[in-house]
Amino acid sequence: MATVSGKGGVGKSLASVNIAETLKLLGYRAAILDVDAGMANVATMFNQYPSYSVTDWIEDRCELSHILQDVGGITLVTTANEPGPLTDKYEILIQALDQVLDALAASHDFIIIDTPAGLGELNLWALDRSRLGAIMLVDEPTSVSDVYRFCKYVLGIDPSYPFAVIVNMAANDEAAAQIHQKFNQIVKYFLQTEIPSMGYIPYSESIRESIRKQMPVMRMEAEEEIEREFSYIAQNIVALAREMQRRELHKSTETRAKK
Ligand SMILES: Nc1ncnc2c1ncn2[C@@H]1O[C@H](COP(=O)(O)OP(=O)(O)OP(=O)(O)O)[C@@H](O)[C@H]1O
Ligand SMILES: [Mg+2]
Repeated sequence: MATVSGKGGVGKSLASVNIAETLKLLGYRAAILDVDAGMANVATMFNQYPSYSVTDWIEDRCELSHILQDVGGITLVTTANEPGPLTDKYEILIQALDQVLDALAASHDFIIIDTPAGLGELNLWALDRSRLGAIMLVDEPTSVSDVYRFCKYVLGIDPSYPFAVIVNMAANDEAAAQIHQKFNQIVKYFLQTEIPSMGYIPYSESIRESIRKQMPVMRMEAEEEIEREFSYIAQNIVALAREMQRRELHKSTETRAKK
């Protein structure tokens, strides 16, 4: 799954970290691949510093196994901790990231790719390699218009791309439903489609506090609403993955039967 947004600072990394933590608490092996090359901050959210990143591996400063960092039962891979000669060499990065994804897929149930804002090369790569694009939406006109342009661009390439919305910083479930509905009215009118919701994350001081304490809010004592909503999102992801597996199995059985 890739966590994406049009606008920056809307909670992509916060969502990636806590969805991974929730999946872990549900018993799944979860990994986060931070592709915000040069401005990585997932490690900071776990109060860690990556000893080695993907660019170190490309430049032969370490083995592949050294870039898989354990952050309290979740595997974290950082593409590039700070800007360097490779951070905009997308062809080289993508070749390496594909190998990293293969290595993670062999030993994890879920991989969450945390992306930078906007529609850069690595965002498109992340969406292409993911079975779900989780778009972060907040109740601000700039967020709605950026997310709309983001979806328009990707759906223009692949009209059936599997997007789902996560509303962040919502006052409550009603407010989250309203902003999702407002967004879908625009999508329906201009793009003749609808994008389902995967859940919402409440606006909360505990979340800001968790960022300051550099610990996932799902590892802290926080409001029951936060726990409930992250569990809801994680369970939706699990259900979607099962449905996709079932469809793939069905397809391959059908193909075998036809042979
Ligand atoms: N639900 C929330 N409640 C309160 N504060 C929040 C919430 N979600 C995000 N924030 C605040 O917004 C800040 C930005 O979040 P985050 O770093 O996850 O955004 P981002 O989309 O990953 O940003 P970037 O585009 O820079 O990668 C956090 O540091 C936090 O203070
Ligand atoms: Mg981020």
